Amino acid sequence: MTDPQIVLTERVQQALARAFGQEHADADPLIRPSQFADFQANVAMSLAKRLRRAPREVAEAIRTELSDFPGTIEVSGPGFLNITLDDTWIAAEAAQMLDDARLGIGTITPAQTVVIDYSAPNAAKEMHVGHLRTTIVGDALARLHEHLGNKVIRQNHLGDWGTPFGMLIEHLLDIGEEAAVAQLEAGMGTEYYQAARAKFDADESFKTRARVRVTTLQSGDPETLRLWHVFMDATVRYFNKIYEMLGVTLTDADIAGESMYNPMLQKVCDDLEEAGVAQISEGALCVFPPGFTGSDDKPLPLIIRKSDGGYGYATTDMAAVRYRVHDLKADRMLYVVGADQALHFRMVFEAARMAGWLPDTVSAEHVKIGMMLGKDGRRFKTRSGESVKLMDLLQEAIDRATAAIADRGYDEQMQREIAHAVGMGAVKYADLSVSHDSEYVFDFDRMLGFTGNTAPYLQYAQARIRSIFRRGGVDPATATGPIVLGEPAERALALQLLGFGAVVEQTTALSEPHRLCAYIYAAATAFTDFFEQCPVLKEGVEPDVRASRLALCALTLRVLETGLDLLGVPVPERM
Ligand code: ARG
Repeated sequence: MTDPQIVLTERVQQALARAFGQEHADADPLIRPSQFADFQANVAMSLAKRLRRAPREVAEAIRTELSDFPGTIEVSGPGFLNITLDDTWIAAEAAQMLDDARLGIGTITPAQTVVIDYSAPNAAKEMHVGHLRTTIVGDALARLHEHLGNKVIRQNHLGDWGTPFGMLIEHLLDIGEEAAVAQLEAGMGTEYYQAARAKFDADESFKTRARVRVTTLQSGDPETLRLWHVFMDATVRYFNKIYEMLGVTLTDADIAGESMYNPMLQKVCDDLEEAGVAQISEGALCVFPPGFTGSDDKPLPLIIRKSDGGYGYATTDMAAVRYRVHDLKADRMLYVVGADQALHFRMVFEAARMAGWLPDTVSAEHVKIGMMLGKDGRRFKTRSGESVKLMDLLQEAIDRATAAIADRGYDEQMQREIAHAVGMGAVKYADLSVSHDSEYVFDFDRMLGFTGNTAPYLQYAQARIRSIFRRGGVDPATATGPIVLGEPAERALALQLLGFGAVVEQTTALSEPHRLCAYIYAAATAFTDFFEQCPVLKEGVEPDVRASRLALCALTLRVLETGLDLLGVPVPERM
């Protein structure tokens, strides 16, 4: 582990134990980056209170214990420890990182089985921008966990079952299979749904047919199931086009839609009722998890079976928890779903714990996804008020990226590749770089900008490093230093790069991709400063300085590439 903050934490904790006794070995040294030194540790102040000693005296005692530390430590103010690392230490750690195929990123042992529920569009309607965000965040988390050595099981909990399918199938019969398939594959799911809905509302005989069809579907009638498959397969082909365009790792093998749980639902109800976890209340079978009350202070029910005997969203999710824990053997379950479903998941997890289906050893986490807003600050819509077609939105990103790079003189093939990477990278990175539970304004101009914390800026930074190697005729793999830190910008870059492994691990543990984004952006900015102040290939640069700087370039390149790849943001060779 090369992250200076973590190294320092360990060193200071050892010093605390030596100076004040083993019982202080776990105290948080409160180490933060500082403007006066590399880092500042504030532990002396809090510890002094507990020890009833003067903070400066405590700080001095810690400093004395750190005499073999590879850097200088000063006590300042009321008892701050200002810590500056030796250049040689930083250089040696950077060299070690350069030598490490994993760039200081650890592996989780023993590996965990992590079930990640993400994307999950509804087949009865078109996939919309909200699902874009759950798809992108979920996919980044899946990539991160896999990189840390965990076993990832992706679960695409499609909305592919329920009463609307009666009318959707009848509409399919009305317009003919071929026409229906063509429409659905083209992403016209919303129009398809609306047409079916209009007939359902206006035409009594259609309504009756739709109702009967729901029953036939639920009873497992083979021909009805075939029609359902025709509908679903066409819909999934459209989803797959979106996934492919985005470079999302979901495949058909990851589909575990609501329909999959259908055969389990009756047993879910029976088992919950038998165990006394669920009771009949006003005709419905409900679980009342403790601590949940409605506006009238009455206990809030999680409805497992409606009074008409039908199952609902919660029934399916109860079945899914049991399946994921019992059959998939999950250690950790992530539900990457809209923040507006927070109450639903809290109640489902609590009910599952009550039933004994979710043991304390398994964590169930709702990774809350904030709403996408338009520039007007309201829910993202087109001007006519319709929800935006995802395919159109993605295409617009690519078109805008094409325009942005039009004057760079690339041939057509290259231009297409770069525009795709920039357009999709921009959309994805915009979703990832803000904390996942905050609302965010979808703004093409900002996300496609070549400055600031955007994908194009980062993609450009890594492409520029590649071009340095091309111009110098050097293979980055052979740029092994030795690293010698002379200029402040070199030192700052190296120090920044050392934090990579720790950030990746923290990002994964907390399910917060924006932390990795902030880190990569800081690394790219440190590189930009370095590059402006420290010539690499210029005539007159001493060979050892050149070798050291090329090594720093190579290390930065690998950090940017790996970081962007873990986020699922494409890295074009040139830009
Ligand atoms: N299809 C749902 C929606 O669009 C999301 C499903 C999330 N996953 C789950 N296990 N409930 O809101």
